[in-house]
Amino acid sequence: MAKVALTGIKPSGTPHLGNYLGAIVPALALVNDYDAYYFIADEHALTTVHDAKEMRELSYEVAATWLALGLDPEKTVVYRQADIPEVFELAWILSTVTPKGLLNRAHAYKDAVAENEAAGRTPDDGISMGLFNYPVLMAADIIIVDADVVPVGSDNRQHVEMARDMAEVFNRTYGDTLRVPEVRIDDNVATIVGLDGRKMSKSYSNEIPIFADPKAQRKLVMRIVTDSRKPEEPKDPSTDNLFRIFEHFGSSADVEQVRNRYGTGGIGYGEVKELLASSLEERFAAPRERYLDLMAHRERIDEILADGAARARKVTRATLDRVRTAVGL
Ligand code: ADP
Ligand code: TRP
Repeated sequence: MAKVALTGIKPSGTPHLGNYLGAIVPALALVNDYDAYYFIADEHALTTVHDAKEMRELSYEVAATWLALGLDPEKTVVYRQADIPEVFELAWILSTVTPKGLLNRAHAYKDAVAENEAAGRTPDDGISMGLFNYPVLMAADIIIVDADVVPVGSDNRQHVEMARDMAEVFNRTYGDTLRVPEVRIDDNVATIVGLDGRKMSKSYSNEIPIFADPKAQRKLVMRIVTDSRKPEEPKDPSTDNLFRIFEHFGSSADVEQVRNRYGTGGIGYGEVKELLASSLEERFAAPRERYLDLMAHRERIDEILADGAARARKVTRATLDRVRTAVGL
């Protein structure tokens, strides 16, 4: 039987180049060798999106992005998390064997606490139970389809490791019932930086959306922060934000040439920004057409997601039955 790959993207903002390189491209590379389950993590996004209309819009954007970039809904099971009620039931059952201390150590939670403490607020100020429990829901997403591998960006490594821990505690408690997943991180990509050099993320508003119109995309590229070195000065490509984005999108010949010219001096950041903007425009022109077409025909997206959910539920139902039997429900 083919192995199972699963990944999800939260509709908490418009998909960006970090999502593209960190999650979408590596996930699409697996579809021929795995049974692939790729979903829209809408219940996860509820921790930050509190407007129903925005939630619906962003869910369509994420679905259309996957499809426009080449996800074939015949070969892959694509669905919305909220259409799979089994996930939620499994999340509760997993939470009953998950030590609270494990969740105390989650980066997202620890960062939120540290931020509160630095600002002189009480540690849990503004932190919802949804944010705290996020890793349990994510473990349920993974475990419910018996996933073997989970392709994600390196920021999600800890989450997948926690899912392993939860599957293992469950198996120790109730006997061998759950498959223990493995994280898959593309080392060439790891973390894509944003306009300001921090991790590209919706939370930092430093992202370049994949399907922004070419003009807007070019404007964003022009805003990538660089130092004030002059064109003739040598520069270190490995520490330059601009180069670290460009190297993933330029042709390999251009990337090599620019790398060399950084070393010797003789290239200005403006020229690299132009090259990057053109590379992005070229790379995303055809997918953008497909994306806009899908966004104009949402009934097609609805149909694909409904079909995906029906296929996913055959598997998720079976896993949940196994779990219910194991725990005596
Ligand atoms: P964001 O941080 O913008 O909210 P998500 O958390 O929704 O992005 O991430 C969805 C997927 O994209 C995850 O697999 C995540 O690891 C990957 N990803 C997000 N940002 C980046 C980045 N800057 N570099 C590499 N991968 C990323
Ligand atoms: N946490 C992922 C993110 O940062 C989204 C996600 C939710 C996910 N459930 C998942 C990723 C299961 C991989 C597997 O957006």
